[in-house]
Amino acid sequence: MLLLGIETSCDDTAAAVVRDGRDVLANVSTNQDEFHAKYGGIVPEIASRRHTSVLSAAIEDALDRAGGSLATIDGIAVTAGPGLIGSLVVGVATAKPLAFATGKPLYAVNHLHGHLFAAFLDRDVEPPYPFLALLVSGGHSQLVEVHGPAELRVIAKTRDDAAGEAFDKTARLLDLPFPGGPALEALARDGDPKAIAFPRYRPDAGALDLSFSGLKTSVRYFLESDAAAGVTRADVAASFQAAVVDVLIDRVRRALERGPYRALVLSGGVAANTALADAFRALGARHEIPTFVPERRYCTDNAAMIAATADRRGEIARVDPLALTADPNLPF
Ligand code: KG4
Ligand code: ZN
Repeated sequence: MLLLGIETSCDDTAAAVVRDGRDVLANVSTNQDEFHAKYGGIVPEIASRRHTSVLSAAIEDALDRAGGSLATIDGIAVTAGPGLIGSLVVGVATAKPLAFATGKPLYAVNHLHGHLFAAFLDRDVEPPYPFLALLVSGGHSQLVEVHGPAELRVIAKTRDDAAGEAFDKTARLLDLPFPGGPALEALARDGDPKAIAFPRYRPDAGALDLSFSGLKTSVRYFLESDAAAGVTRADVAASFQAAVVDVLIDRVRRALERGPYRALVLSGGVAANTALADAFRALGARHEIPTFVPERRYCTDNAAMIAATADRRGEIARVDPLALTADPNLPF
């Protein structure tokens, strides 16, 4: 099955063509960083206007690169939520008439499911079910048990900030440019992860919840304190990053006790972080479980993962093109 995927839930305008939920024939993505950078964060109104300007061209580009057209694809998959309402509406309002006019099936995809099925893209070996996934993005941080395409269970969430949000906010404290996550990781490469012992959130034994707002606050207090003079900004970045990685890895380790799971999957924008991905793979190796970390371009928001999810979920995801509405709070 050949599906066109459309993703506009936040600030990336993306279109892709994917065969059988795995082979990526085209993956087009335009980021809007230059338009948001001067505000230090994503401005929703700007995000939706940019999607409006570039989405049609992105779709044509993806179909072109895949060597096809609307006539040759078998269906259209679009992110229906969660995300920014104005951004989601652009994708949904574009996908609906395409499906209606061509008579091809329309599939509504939950953006977070998309991050999970990113692990199947461009792979010879797929993650076997049931697998445990750590989904860490700018808006969400959660642990998910995936028993199959139709059976996805969230077993833990963050109590406050998402991991990516913590990276972005801490990057701002360090005067790093937007987007903060990659900039903070780059700075951390020159720093000592043990320079500052930032707090790690540890719930009671057996509990799996995550929390990052205390960590972010302690970075702020540290930077305002006299002790800040004794270390470099790179040390602060590296020590912060080490604390985030420790918390995430500790929670995955705890969750593994609920298994057995046949694989570990890391996904979402923060999965692009090398320190996290390395620690995740090392944890899998210690527990003798295969780990799957999508290629960087499939970790951050993309449309290939949306097409892959629709393919895998099939009829469960299928919707009436006239009835679909974007839902910024779409339940998992
Ligand atoms: O999945 P994603 O592209 O969008 C959402 O669905 O939120 O994730 C974006 C998040 C941002 O918070 C960004 O700072 C973070 O992922 N991120 C990173 C890295 N690359 C992206 N965080 C840490 N290290 C990175 N290399
Ligand atoms: Zn995302």
